Amino acid sequence: MKKVKKVGMSIAWFCLGTLMLHAQERKGVTIEHLGTNNTLVRITEVGKYLLLPIQDNGEEATVNIVADGKQERSIVARLATSKVDYTVPLDLTPYRGKQVVLNILTTQGRNSVREAKQDVCWKNFSVSDTYDATNREKYRPAFHHTPLYGWMNDPNGMVYKDSVWHLCYQWNPYGSKWQNMTWGHSTSRDLIHWEHHEPALLPDGLGTIFSGSSAIDHANSAGFGKDAVVAMYTSAAASQMQSLAYSTDGGHTFTTYPGNPVLTLESEARDPNMWWNEKQGQWNLVLAHALEKEMLFFASPDMKKWTLQSRFGKDLGAQDGVWECPDLFELPVAGSDEKRWVLLCNINPGGPFGGSATQYFVGEWDGRSFKADTDAQGNVPTKWMDYGKDHYATVSWSDVPDGRRTVIGWMSNWQYAAEVPTLQFRSANTLPRELGLFKDADGQYYLSSTPSPELEALRDKRMQYIRQLSVGKRARTVALPTQNDGICEILLEMDARRATSITLTLSNKADETVAMTYDATKNEVSFDRTRSGITDFSQDFPSVTVAPTHTTDGKLNLRIFIDRSSIELFEQNGRLAMTNLVFPTAPYSTLTLQAEGGNARVNKLTIYSLQTIF
Ligand code: FRU
Repeated sequence: MKKVKKVGMSIAWFCLGTLMLHAQERKGVTIEHLGTNNTLVRITEVGKYLLLPIQDNGEEATVNIVADGKQERSIVARLATSKVDYTVPLDLTPYRGKQVVLNILTTQGRNSVREAKQDVCWKNFSVSDTYDATNREKYRPAFHHTPLYGWMNDPNGMVYKDSVWHLCYQWNPYGSKWQNMTWGHSTSRDLIHWEHHEPALLPDGLGTIFSGSSAIDHANSAGFGKDAVVAMYTSAAASQMQSLAYSTDGGHTFTTYPGNPVLTLESEARDPNMWWNEKQGQWNLVLAHALEKEMLFFASPDMKKWTLQSRFGKDLGAQDGVWECPDLFELPVAGSDEKRWVLLCNINPGGPFGGSATQYFVGEWDGRSFKADTDAQGNVPTKWMDYGKDHYATVSWSDVPDGRRTVIGWMSNWQYAAEVPTLQFRSANTLPRELGLFKDADGQYYLSSTPSPELEALRDKRMQYIRQLSVGKRARTVALPTQNDGICEILLEMDARRATSITLTLSNKADETVAMTYDATKNEVSFDRTRSGITDFSQDFPSVTVAPTHTTDGKLNLRIFIDRSSIELFEQNGRLAMTNLVFPTAPYSTLTLQAEGGNARVNKLTIYSLQTIF
């Protein structure tokens, strides 16, 4: 026995000796290649982070994080093969005092170990106590919420608690394309400035963390504590299941419920949105039955046991894509005592201008089921919340006081979100908006969206104030602010009078333009970004979007927010909202006004420069 052991030991020493010959010492790590597609990165120094070298369009590698021999996590990262575009930090603090090894599986496509060793990532791993998240990108918005780094999609788990707006979001901390979904977490006290925190939810044995909602359990019906913030989200692995996590510190940190998942189905369903139903004394939940293109409604006494109550949507509304990210709430109708229910139903693809968009249904909710209003022909009309290309996954904050229904959306489109010309981060959220309802001449109820009132505090200087300007064929030009890359807010009260159309053109020194045209004959506003700057990263990006104005008197009061890579256009009373990304190579510096068919009048034009939120 003794002899055998000795032989065994010496073989081990021999092997280690050979391995060490091939190992390369680099900045706190040792790299050991095990074959054409398998490499070990051993951490040899104590530090807060391991910086992973990423190539944005690189191939995906599976990185298994092993501490003291136990697999702790597995992430997918595009480790750099020919060039390092940026690094992302892997937090090592949970493994302090342990021996950490990354067991990495790379592409199968290498012919030899020699070839696999050429990948630049192996020379560029390093252990560090800091990660520099300073923004260096020209297209990072100056007054919109963005993640510090990494990829973001849907807003999640939004709740207002103790005067704090919590905003979680689908976040990939390990690269600027979709993967490794966690709930990133930011908070704000004014809906303008955002503080970034550790992720609220990390993947666990049930899967990565997809979209969901948070609600305050005022009555402690789930038993997590009075006023606990309870998050319900989709655990996504081979299948999708619904899980709970709760916070007893006001929504700052979460504990996952040991009894997860709390709701399973035999088909794909995701993005749970729950709320307390005061009348019936129960929790309600709307869940997207994604591929069936319908919404499922459930009820529960305690958020843990759910009973299916009804389904809505089969063959109704836009059906050209999967249904995702639902929300249901009641809203007052402007100028009346009436109230109606609104069901948000994000759809991808199948939006009015291709790709993703937010459709909604107005109707009645009796505590069990939702019934949509019909038009004069008895059909359920398709309605869109925003007529731009970059408004998706919009849902509302829960528990906002004063009857407000505040929403925020992901300001991108699945058609090209992963290709937009940014690097350290991808995607911003829209400005927060307040929802209302109005009844139009066709007897239908429509959603109104207006920028949240808090946003007025962004205004810096009033740069232009023009009254009574007659606009005709001859172009009238107005300078736009130049500070902070020209970020600004434009308020424009106009009356088409004899004009058939009025065009507002934003242009820069590179002759890049965005044309926004009010067609007074069709009562439509269009937004043309085909020549807006960089547009060639996707054939789906150059586009013209068109929105109905829901007005007929030729008068339009526009409010336009221009950030470094986005333009949001609203009608003052919220009857029109249009959100579009733009990537001008230089800031738009001029606004040109022109009218066709006769003279129009601008009653008032005000332009504010805005402050950055950094
Ligand atoms: C919508 C969506 C959700 C899903 C999440 C995954 O954009 O597809 O349905 O939960 O993104 O990141």
